[in-house]
Amino acid sequence: MSGTAGVLARLPRTVEWRDGDLYLLDQTRLPHEVVVERQDSADQVFSAIRTLKVRGAPAIGVAAAYGLCVALRPFRSGTVAAFHDAIEREAAHLDAARPTAVNLGWALRRMQRRAAATKAAAAEELFAALVDEAVRIHEEDQRLCLGIGLAGAPLIAASSGVLTHCNAGALCATGIGTATAPMYVAHERGVAFRVYADETRPLLQGARLTAWELQAAGLDVTVITDSMAASTMAAGLVDLVVTGADRVARNGDAANKIGTLGLAILARHFGIPFYIAAPSSTLDFDCLTGADIPIEQRAPDEVLGFAGVRTAPAGAKARNPAFDVTPHALIAGIITERGIVRAPFDTGLSALFGRDNSE
Ligand code: MRU
Repeated sequence: MSGTAGVLARLPRTVEWRDGDLYLLDQTRLPHEVVVERQDSADQVFSAIRTLKVRGAPAIGVAAAYGLCVALRPFRSGTVAAFHDAIEREAAHLDAARPTAVNLGWALRRMQRRAAATKAAAAEELFAALVDEAVRIHEEDQRLCLGIGLAGAPLIAASSGVLTHCNAGALCATGIGTATAPMYVAHERGVAFRVYADETRPLLQGARLTAWELQAAGLDVTVITDSMAASTMAAGLVDLVVTGADRVARNGDAANKIGTLGLAILARHFGIPFYIAAPSSTLDFDCLTGADIPIEQRAPDEVLGFAGVRTAPAGAKARNPAFDVTPHALIAGIITERGIVRAPFDTGLSALFGRDNSE
């Protein structure tokens, strides 16, 4: 198999709904172990999202949609009214798993709207409609990734160097990723280029996940520590920076993995174009600016050590914001499934998606 379909064929599925059950790839064990876990309860799905077994904005959204179905299974034999009550309760529970990636709430709100629009005589019919909606969200995610790939691939020139941060790859979604999608399409078209994958402290999504999937697809990938980005740019090795996003505000400000803001500032200093790749499911028109985006604060232990091994002295304090916000003034363009939006982002995003990105 070749092409972008071949990329997915070489990787385990991040999210799978099979025979009425939800399976999630445990990304905390990659790249050394490939473990897929069946999700038997809402609490298990909640915990999988919170502990980053499933992570990356689009994958979280798809997992939450199916996770709501898992949560609602016990209510299929009850009344329609009890089923509707359970939808509200379980959706609110899952939505609280992580705050920054808007895809989580976006997918759950879509599920709630589908339930509200379904005239059902029995809870079982409502359940079937919700599974259908989750499958639609899942299939759509794969199309959005491909659209981003097609829109962004022309940005990657032959013999160039592309730097990315965290994992905005196939492992963050259910298709060919967001930031990696242009890379996979360019690679499929025969463009030879180098990728620099930031290690991405504290949880190493770049070293563990991005390097793993790009290598599996045959791309030329080099891991650098986050603190090497400046010298890699200064050495003239980087022509383009592309990262994903967890939430894009109406004015184009974009939240992404901690460290992205520093890269954007560096890219501006060195005159290197900095792009965000984001599907419409990551746009949040209710956030007027990045200041409205909630930033997840994670446990200090993730910074004070790694993989259960303490590296900082006992008693050391740590800050651990999981994301930062890159102001739109530092962003050359936002690569969406409908094309690349450039400044002014407010009018550009509205022109492509209207006020409503909810499908
Ligand atoms: O904490 P994570 O691993 O969920 O963070 C993921 C990122 O920051 C990705 O870059 C982002 O979700 C974009 S993925 C399309």
